[in-house]
Amino acid sequence: MRLRSICARTSRRLWRVSEYRMKDYTGEIVSNKQIAPDAFEMTVGVKDMPEVRPGQFAMLEVPRKDCVLRRPFGILSRDENSVSFLYRVKGNGTIALSELEAGDGIRLTMPLGNGFPTEKRSKVAIVGGGFGIVPLYLLAKEYRGAEVRIYNGFVNASAVMLEREFGKCGKFTLCTDDGSRGFHGYPVAALEKDMDEGFAPEVIFCCGPTPLMKSVKALAARRGVKAYLSLEQRMGCGVGACLTCTCKVAGHNKRVCKDGPVFDSAEVFE
Ligand SMILES: Cc1cc2nc3c(=O)[nH]c(=O)nc-3n(C[C@H](O)[C@H](O)[C@H](O)COP(=O)(O)OP(=O)(O)OC[C@H]3O[C@@H](n4cnc5c(N)ncnc54)[C@H](O)[C@@H]3O)c2cc1C
Ligand code: FES
Repeated sequence: MRLRSICARTSRRLWRVSEYRMKDYTGEIVSNKQIAPDAFEMTVGVKDMPEVRPGQFAMLEVPRKDCVLRRPFGILSRDENSVSFLYRVKGNGTIALSELEAGDGIRLTMPLGNGFPTEKRSKVAIVGGGFGIVPLYLLAKEYRGAEVRIYNGFVNASAVMLEREFGKCGKFTLCTDDGSRGFHGYPVAALEKDMDEGFAPEVIFCCGPTPLMKSVKALAARRGVKAYLSLEQRMGCGVGACLTCTCKVAGHNKRVCKDGPVFDSAEVFE
């Protein structure tokens, strides 16, 4: 009961943060379909859809009275009239989201965070693990025209998602932990193999489970390559007001939602 009243108070306070209000949209579900075990892809129709940079995210309102705080999700894709998400059904909030149907209304705050740096590069490596592939899709499309190599890893063949979509964005290596599809092993091992064989990316971008991001950080340091990681932290507000998502970056406290979620790999996991 006490937790609910704290959440309700936080929510009222947030409403007074002007950035939160400015980025608040009311959308209508266009589709919300299951694409893999526990995975749903949801498209929301939004009038006056804002521009989105690769790696930015949204806070989605959950249609349940006991889920007062919005939940953070990476933006998978956007066009002038809609925005899409890919999410894992985990707890009460995502169960409720998975029950939404076409025509239902939803409120969302977006675009949030700084996203990935997208200066011109001629050779780029993109490494994703599980649902970490979500913010990398817009990024891979942004770098079309450059030599883009994408390494996406999943636990096994039945967990594979968006293979065709990423396949159109560059040289794509599908990896599975158990070898049931594609490269047998973690995506960072597939990237290192290519680097041993002569591929020399100017930058590595990564999003996924923490062990994957730590191994990308280590690989980048060994090879002297710049790498950017998109971190995931539990979030309350998504706009820098509550400090729930604080983490250490280059020895200083930073808010993953407002200062990130993308950081230079040399400055995190120290
Ligand atoms: C910037 C950002 C982008 C994200 N993008 C995506 C995405 O594109 N697709 C996707 O499926 N998920 C994404 N997540 C994670 C997603 O926000 C959580 O899975 C979701 O909020 C869980 O809500 P819930 O109510 O279902 O679960 P809860 O009932 O809140 O929790 C259920 C379980 O999930 C764990 N959990 C909750 N939040 C997180 C979190 N942030 N990170 C890791 N574990 C968590 C809890 O510890 C608990 O074990 C993102 C998180 C962040 C911070
Ligand atoms: S979630 Fe509130 S400060 Fe980041």
